[in-house]
Amino acid sequence: MNIVMFGPPGAGKGSVSAFLVGEFSYPHIAAGDIIREEARKPQNKVRAYMEKGELVPDAVIMQLVGSRLRQPDCGEGFILDGFPRTIVQAEFLERQRIPIDIVINLEVDEDAIVDRLSGRRMDPKTGQIYNLNTMELPEGVDREKLVQRPDDKPEVIRKRIEVYKKQTAPVIEYYRERNVLLNIDGNPELGQVVGSVREALQKVRE
Ligand code: AP5
Repeated sequence: MNIVMFGPPGAGKGSVSAFLVGEFSYPHIAAGDIIREEARKPQNKVRAYMEKGELVPDAVIMQLVGSRLRQPDCGEGFILDGFPRTIVQAEFLERQRIPIDIVINLEVDEDAIVDRLSGRRMDPKTGQIYNLNTMELPEGVDREKLVQRPDDKPEVIRKRIEVYKKQTAPVIEYYRERNVLLNIDGNPELGQVVGSVREALQKVRE
């Protein structure tokens, strides 16, 4: 089953994907992680877009994600997080004959998005994501050692939401027309959201 995790910035796409990976033995392919990896290369052209909260050009991300999806580990299925984010990207998947079986659209209120993104922190050693606003830090985690993503600064968060509404939200209609869209309320606490996604996927598989 080829699954797309869809939703605004901070909707919980990455967090929910992490749970699904444990259940399906599919690779989790996160467009944002691919871009951040690319941004570490010298003279890359993607970092500037990301840090401003803009989408990187379609041609660049389509090339990167396209070649990742052609790897043999994607043969049985994948969890694609953060791609497609434009109609051009959705059409690219169709042209490449990469079928999408289900699009999980996490719907989250804008206030919650801002709260989540401004509180998100990462442990640079383990890559584990925490949140200062929406979750208790587990014992032993040192708040001072956690780092914030450059695009989680307030002015960049606002830009990312604006870009989502303008360029990404139209993709919802694209998949609704193809009958693969599953809307999930992403507002409750993470465990509950994961439960709703599991339940919905179960129904699709039956
Ligand atoms: P990307 O990294 O994909 O950023 P994003 O879509 O903005 O998504 P996030 O990672 O911010 O949020 P998420 O939905 O995964 O939420 P998470 O689970 O982390 O992309 C970064 C940049 O790369 C883009 O801006 C763009 O420049 C570029 N890019 C990427 N893909 C592209 C594409 N296809 N085309 C062009 N450019 C592209 O959760 C967020 C926080 O909330 C965490 O702290 C988490 O702990 C907390 N949280 C999660 N769920 C809950 C819950 N239910 N309750 C409370 N807290 C929660």
